[in-house]
Amino acid sequence: MIRSSLAASERLSRAAGVKMAGLDLAQPLTRAAKAAIDAAFLAHHVVVFADQRLTREAQFAFAASFGEVEVHGLHRGESKRHGVAHILSNLDEHGRPRLRRSRAANYHWHTDKPYRAAPPALTMLFAVELPPEGGDTEFANTAMAYEALPDEMKRRIAGLRVVFRPAFDEGRPAVVHPLVRTHPETSAKALYLGNHATHIEGLPAEEGAALLRELLAHATQPRFVYRHRWRLGDLVMWDNRCLLHRAVANYETAKYRRVMHRSVVCGTVPF
Ligand SMILES: [Fe+2]
Repeated sequence: MIRSSLAASERLSRAAGVKMAGLDLAQPLTRAAKAAIDAAFLAHHVVVFADQRLTREAQFAFAASFGEVEVHGLHRGESKRHGVAHILSNLDEHGRPRLRRSRAANYHWHTDKPYRAAPPALTMLFAVELPPEGGDTEFANTAMAYEALPDEMKRRIAGLRVVFRPAFDEGRPAVVHPLVRTHPETSAKALYLGNHATHIEGLPAEEGAALLRELLAHATQPRFVYRHRWRLGDLVMWDNRCLLHRAVANYETAKYRRVMHRSVVCGTVPF
């Protein structure tokens, strides 16, 4: 059977993830390719492209086909640069691997920058240097988790709002978002929580925190999770509007280098 190369996509788990073959992301996307990626992204939330060769500039250009790309800079010694993917690594300022275990570290389940009024819609990582094994990323499908909640819990949490404050800077003003957010493109409802979520507006702090813990434990059960095992050259893009994610420290983080190039596409105010 002859199949077009673009049709060669493979689901990676029931919860999330699809691998798309036959695309060189360093080249300008055709309209058909862009439409196929958009459809795969909305249907599977995590899209994996293997064996890519991308400069930081080419990655930025690919990211920009999905919307406005956030500019990063003045981060871990890097000077501010426009038009390039930024570098995410486990290296210290001397280029040595180290273990970072703070409350803000991305080993905790989180969505990217939920403490912003308009958090990023999608994030992409390109694997540049990897440990010999491990260093996985896990994704939890918060729309599937919401759907699976008992009706009583859905009624209980309808209309609740979550207070987010960056775990790395509790002096910043809090931002409040719906606990059940509606995906702006699919209209699917999804839980919005994870690291940086402190409590629920209008509930006693401990009661709100307990509810968030209960919902997070529910949403991150294995049946809602896809674990990505990275290979060099993987570019993975995911939808922050219906997923939690975390880095898994299943390698010797103080010994091996793990370097990713990251691009973040701006989103809208959650509703
Ligand atoms: Fe993240």
